[in-house]
Amino acid sequence: MQQGLSVISQVQVLRDEIREHRLAGKRIALVPTMGALHEGHLSLVTLARQRADIVICSIFVNPKQFGEGEDLDAYPRTLEADVRLLDEIGTDLVFSPSSDDIYPSGFATKVSVAGVSEGMCGDDRPEHFDGVATIVAKLLLMVLPDVAIFGEKDFQQLLVIKQMVRDLNIPVEILGAPIVRAEDGLALSSRNEYLSAERRAIAPKLYEVLTDLAAEIRNGGEVPRVIEKARGRLIDYGFSVDYVELRSGLHLDRRTALVDGEEARVFAAVRLGATRLIDNVAV
Ligand code: PAF
Repeated sequence: MQQGLSVISQVQVLRDEIREHRLAGKRIALVPTMGALHEGHLSLVTLARQRADIVICSIFVNPKQFGEGEDLDAYPRTLEADVRLLDEIGTDLVFSPSSDDIYPSGFATKVSVAGVSEGMCGDDRPEHFDGVATIVAKLLLMVLPDVAIFGEKDFQQLLVIKQMVRDLNIPVEILGAPIVRAEDGLALSSRNEYLSAERRAIAPKLYEVLTDLAAEIRNGGEVPRVIEKARGRLIDYGFSVDYVELRSGLHLDRRTALVDGEEARVFAAVRLGATRLIDNVAV
């Protein structure tokens, strides 16, 4: 039964509240976010609700995962509206710390996950996954949830977090949730807000091209050739292309052909003006 939503900004208050729930034998889920919530985030909360008694959503725009010249200052901050949405769909607790609380003066630790952080977004955004791994490690250690949920749109991020949790023996189940899309296919993202009407109309072509690419590979198309074709289509639509790749679904090994029995996905990152969009589709 929903008891009403608490919004907590201090780590110690968070820990005290969680201790009460633990003593009462409750199972706890964490949904880490940077706010500016949309249906994609809400689907994570809904999944969390199915998996736990107490659902905690963190809202923190993590400066360490933004590179120089990226959109840290412009990143949408809509705490009041976010809390309202979370309350409506049944969240128990929102953790919304200040940057000084998370990274006090003298903070000196970085969590870096080799291998799966490299390539794709790791090449285009150096330091990004270190920033993600560092904040997620901190959040997991603050909350010590039974389960934590992340969207599959950020598939590389999901695998970085799974690897980190395995390597550091953090006792939590990491669950990926399917991508939520707008009716026209565009994967929901807080950054979609940056798109002008004209660019918003082009953006769904990314999903269209990836869906076609996945089908061509599934049907035996020669991978380097069909990837080049997809890249050309994206450029013709007006995207600038950071990458289009086929990778294994488990460790993100780059593939130039399907491997029998192995799950694989096509991944792309593109830019429309200054807005960077990522997406992926299972083959
Ligand atoms: O996916 C996000 O919103 C962020 O990268 C995360 C996982 C909340 C860490 O800041």
